[in-house]
Amino acid sequence: MLANARLYCYIYGIQEKTILTMTDQTAKRDSFGSSFGVLVALAGSAVGLGNLWRFPYLLGQNGGAAFILIYLGFVLLVGLPVMLAEFIIGRRSQASARAAFRKLAPGSRWGITGVLGVICCVLILSFYSVVGGWGAEYLYKAVCFDFTTGDSNTFSNLFSGFSTSVWRPLICHGIFLALTAGIVIAGVKNGIEKFSKVMMPLLFLIVIGIAVRSMTLEGSGPGISYLFKPDWSKVTSQTFLAALGQAFFSLSLGACMVITYASYVKKDANIISLGAQTAAADTVFALIAGCAIMPAVFAFGIAPGEGPGLVFITLPQIFSQMPLGGVVAIFFFLALLLAALTSSISILEVIVAFCIEEFKMKRKAAVAVVFILIWILGVLCSLSMGPLADFKIFGKTIFDLFDFLSANFLMLIGGLLVVIFVGWRLGRKEVYDELTNGGGLKLSPWLLKTIIFLIRFVAPLALIAIAVFQIHE
Ligand code: TRP
Repeated sequence: MLANARLYCYIYGIQEKTILTMTDQTAKRDSFGSSFGVLVALAGSAVGLGNLWRFPYLLGQNGGAAFILIYLGFVLLVGLPVMLAEFIIGRRSQASARAAFRKLAPGSRWGITGVLGVICCVLILSFYSVVGGWGAEYLYKAVCFDFTTGDSNTFSNLFSGFSTSVWRPLICHGIFLALTAGIVIAGVKNGIEKFSKVMMPLLFLIVIGIAVRSMTLEGSGPGISYLFKPDWSKVTSQTFLAALGQAFFSLSLGACMVITYASYVKKDANIISLGAQTAAADTVFALIAGCAIMPAVFAFGIAPGEGPGLVFITLPQIFSQMPLGGVVAIFFFLALLLAALTSSISILEVIVAFCIEEFKMKRKAAVAVVFILIWILGVLCSLSMGPLADFKIFGKTIFDLFDFLSANFLMLIGGLLVVIFVGWRLGRKEVYDELTNGGGLKLSPWLLKTIIFLIRFVAPLALIAIAVFQIHE
């Protein structure tokens, strides 16, 4: 490579230094190795605490099947177009969050979208790694067979005792973040892709196993019909916002995650099918998680509307009453931890890729700096469960504020900006070109027209409508 470069300089009389930095930069940019690798990494990002922790409790609070149907509608009409728009930006620019917009729209202010995305990822990772830490602690408790006896009081005291204390959650949060950082330091192909390739199939198997166990419990019938028979009387305008926010959170949209991963995707991959497969895998996984949790909740006569504690309070109670519950508990919290890790690495990668490309940092240094920043912010989130519970900003604890600001605000704004950028700012030809790999893929014109219609009209209008509705409330 270097010898060639020298020869080239000699022939064309170019300054050798210029071309060396050019080759240096292209050589440095990592990429995914195989298309299966891309898919599992993307699915790994999408499938996470959003599916196993957030989706079940929102489902329980918002009336079951009706919430699922609204959620599915949003995934198809808003989630998928936003995902494809992010794919187009990332793969075309081959650059991280902010640089991507600058490359595609030089001299404009669109780079701000990338910066907002990175800020959003910082907020998400701060509370996400705290919950990931809870997952690690609960796996440890499950391995010690702590969930074999007890009633609802035991487990709610256990959870509140743990989550409101000072040191233990902080240590768990540190461990979870260190695991995340360790994988991201190894890079895209050797870290993220390798880890996801092994863990994702394992995760699917574990959750399917638990769903079978849960659905075959005596008295699981009402739980199953809760999942599949819609009760529209529970649906309010809040249900719509919750379903939309959840679709964005679960598909990892609106925070430049898909832009960053797509920038490592090769030019010959079919991005429409990758986007559709990722969304399908995430949705199927969420539904299986619903089938793993709700039937058991009903079989043991527990209220489905428990809220964020559902997985950490209600499930241990269920495990303690279920035949083979001690073993099921180990598998469940193992799945939770692995799912959280394949997602947290994607959130960290957005911030790290940004630091590498914007501040010309080395990967290791970038990971170290971001680790420290997130650990400190996470400390605030964790303490806001206990000692800092009374410290409120806009009436919310730090933890709730970070969750709200990201999932219900920044991600939706990010999604809106992304579809407007691709639908109205990028040229039509560029969009077609990227979707069809420069005409190399023969796709039906009907499919392309539908996608562009969704990106230009349906997704932005739906997002604006929800925002207006929200302000009006
Ligand atoms: N989708 C993940 C989950 O369901 C969370 C997540 C991963 C995420 N990467 C993201 C959310 C990027 C927003 C942005 O748990």
